[in-house]
Amino acid sequence: MKRKNFIHTLGATTLGALAIRPIFGNAHSLGESEENPSNHASGHATTTPPKSPYILPKTGTSNAPHNEAYWGVIAKNFKRPAGFINLENGYFSHQPQGTLSYHIDAETTINTQTSHFMRTAQTQAIEEARNAFAGFQGLIPDEVAFTRNTTESLNIIIMGTQWQPGDEVIIGDQDYGSMVEAFQQTVARWMVRLKVAEVPVLPNSDAEIIRAYTSMITPRTKMLHLTHMINLTGQLIPVVAITREAKKINPNIFVVVDAAHSLAHTPMDMSELRNAGADAIGGSLHKWLCNPIGAGFLFVKKQNIREIWPLMGDISADRTDIRKFEHQGTRPIQSLQTIAKAIEFHRLLGSASKYNRLIYLKLLWIGNKQALENFGKGMGILNHPTYQANMNAVTDLMNMDSFKLLSPLLPFSRGGAIATAALSGYTPTELANTLMSKFGIFTVGIDHPVIRGVRVTPHLSNSTSDCIALNKAFTSLCVDLIPHLEPVKNK
Ligand SMILES: Cc1ncc(COP(=O)(O)O)c(C=O)c1O
Repeated sequence: MKRKNFIHTLGATTLGALAIRPIFGNAHSLGESEENPSNHASGHATTTPPKSPYILPKTGTSNAPHNEAYWGVIAKNFKRPAGFINLENGYFSHQPQGTLSYHIDAETTINTQTSHFMRTAQTQAIEEARNAFAGFQGLIPDEVAFTRNTTESLNIIIMGTQWQPGDEVIIGDQDYGSMVEAFQQTVARWMVRLKVAEVPVLPNSDAEIIRAYTSMITPRTKMLHLTHMINLTGQLIPVVAITREAKKINPNIFVVVDAAHSLAHTPMDMSELRNAGADAIGGSLHKWLCNPIGAGFLFVKKQNIREIWPLMGDISADRTDIRKFEHQGTRPIQSLQTIAKAIEFHRLLGSASKYNRLIYLKLLWIGNKQALENFGKGMGILNHPTYQANMNAVTDLMNMDSFKLLSPLLPFSRGGAIATAALSGYTPTELANTLMSKFGIFTVGIDHPVIRGVRVTPHLSNSTSDCIALNKAFTSLCVDLIPHLEPVKNK
């Protein structure tokens, strides 16, 4: 099944059950056994294909989201921190050991070859990475530049746009702080008018979100900035529909997408955003693609490249050449060389099955029975004894008066791994600190004008027991609150 079909069907139904089920067939595509050692792929040409550097489940093991026989083996690829459960994987992703080894080998090679590598092999290495990434996301290589991260990618666009006083830009009220600052600086520098769309935290429909943005568009709107997956809550906004609608209202609007958290997290390729009319997209490869830190991408539609000034001065590349945005000086090429390896790991899992697993982990710690039932039914695994046992092991936190989920749960296509919750009586920091000190679970407190709670982000290195442990921790905190709510006894 094509990823494209998967997400569209998910969007069309609350669950996309029929779309999800065939994914189970992919389990057999993993050819190696669990015993496959994590060897050090060197990247040098060999006559026989190199062994996969990844630890993979035995052939034929079902990749159903609840199956630890599969996902437990995948988790072994990651080195977990000692002494606590990490459920804050939103900052960046740790890399599978196979990717890390490849990265270290690549760095060792550069460190040995020194400037000979930089002067003779660097350009080819970058171009290979460009081709690999563009192919992975269905993009044209000449529309992809590498940066250090999303922040840099989007700053290239925001700072490089030829603003005129009076131009209008629309952003969202839950956009990432660095982008908001970049736009605020633009306002101060160019007298641009900043308009902030209030994105519903728990929307009832796509239409509500689309309206939040499109109702602000005027003939003066020069740029529309959309955060595909909001980092505060994990909400996925309908970027495709918003972009199409925005362009209908004002065809000159430049749509720029922050895809920091959606790349390689949702099954949607960046090409779908491009095809919908997005003019530029920025993302980080060290988040859900699990590439080493320090690699970002910037997509700019070919016809727009000429008009955007590079952040670092460049006159050697043609004005229409995307490479003009890569004038970064000496940089860690090993992080770019590793991209193909990170893609390999991602493909071994499959976008859709990875996404399903992440959603399942989220549902488990929240414990919502209705959502778990819908999900299990849709995947055809509801009656599996393990699925049932996990469901019985968790408390439905949404039934607890003191617990408030700040992330949309349904339809499932409205999010992924990330979810945020608040507990009455606790500030976000107190709650995160309590989860860590009392239960050894690391999360992050979010104290934002719109969202105040604890953000939880499971990853492939997490087990179902990690999420059950968090559910139990929340349950006990909710129960602990009860004495405070009881009437004071007579003396
Ligand atoms: C929505 C969003 N945009 C941008 C960024 C910035 O990413 P980076 O630090 O890789 O530049 C983040 C980081 O978490 C994010 O969540």
